[in-house]
Amino acid sequence: MTNSVLDLFNNENLAFVKVCAPMVRYSKLQYRKLVRMYDCNLCFTPMIMADSYIKSPKARNHEFQTDDEDRPLIVQFGANNSTDFISASELIIPHCDGVDLNCGCPQKWALQDGYGAHLLKNPEIIKDCVSQLRNRLPLNKTISVKLRILNNNRESVDLCRQIEAAGVSFITVHGRTPLQKKDPVNLECIKLINDSVNIPVIFNGGIKNLSDAIFKHNFTGCRGVMSATSILHNPGLFAGYDFTPVSAIENWLKIQHTNFFWFHHHLVFMCEHLLIKKDRIIFNNLKNANDVVSFLEEKFDIKNVLSSNRTLGKKLSATPGTYYQSITSNESIQETADLVDELSSLFC
Ligand SMILES: Cc1cc2nc3c(=O)[nH]c(=O)nc-3n(C[C@H](O)[C@H](O)[C@H](O)COP(=O)(O)O)c2cc1C
Repeated sequence: MTNSVLDLFNNENLAFVKVCAPMVRYSKLQYRKLVRMYDCNLCFTPMIMADSYIKSPKARNHEFQTDDEDRPLIVQFGANNSTDFISASELIIPHCDGVDLNCGCPQKWALQDGYGAHLLKNPEIIKDCVSQLRNRLPLNKTISVKLRILNNNRESVDLCRQIEAAGVSFITVHGRTPLQKKDPVNLECIKLINDSVNIPVIFNGGIKNLSDAIFKHNFTGCRGVMSATSILHNPGLFAGYDFTPVSAIENWLKIQHTNFFWFHHHLVFMCEHLLIKKDRIIFNNLKNANDVVSFLEEKFDIKNVLSSNRTLGKKLSATPGTYYQSITSNESIQETADLVDELSSLFC
């Protein structure tokens, strides 16, 4: 039985697998479509809370959208017990290639309720999730874990070995501990983990551009490299662009969007290094799609943008995720740094 994700890792024509990270609010269908146009081989959904996903069809529709081209795709769940993780995974598995358990989220609410990085202290729950689900899913679907490292390299290796023994298909290692924010990524630890397990390892943390991704792949030997913050600013990262190519802005405008808030937010990130400060402030504070499209057409000499997106969000449809606090108190974005700081405090 072929497995499209493991086939990627085994593909000798790929030096390494280029991966777009799970990002709450941001790694949704539209952005996944965009990064796939720029050499990204594998995408993760944002973390979806397994317990809510099981309970409510409304949550299911709100939190997860996909289409036939959106593959290979890994759906990430936040869960604090195997029953929820298994039930949610069984519901979603026909629509994706694998499911992932979040063992890295360092937010206070997650730690308090036993989610994310809290699971690092409870490997039995991680192993239970993996081994029980492995017995239920067909072999062409992967089960993976995304984790942060522990304070001690040896303990980190030991944890990864235990998860491997439980039957995980691959792991993603963010080379910072749950308490570290912008600290340097521990390359040695990720290399040690990669040398100590026989499953594919995806490197994560601090990737700046393609050359950096190649360096981290060469240094650690990891089969995959994942980016979050930098790919948010530059969807062309894995195709070798240092900044967002204008073609990516054009492609973003051509993608069908349903929500002005996300449509605009992504552009704010993408344009950060393309606009001078004065223009950034004007652009970041635009309030409807017509103005956004017109601004970009003029600034970047983009022609023939589909008119459908001009009407998008005439009335702002900003619906902050059901499960997460809004990161902006109002619709005004003075500087991208404001946003990034808020995001960093949440996740990095
Ligand atoms: C906006 C944003 C949202 C994130 N959401 C998630 C998430 O849903 N699940 C997860 O495992 N990590 C999440 N993260 C963490 C990233 O996946 C990644 O592990 C971390 O940012 C380090 O990678 P980077 O240095 O390339 O940003 C998020 C990060 C950011 C910036």
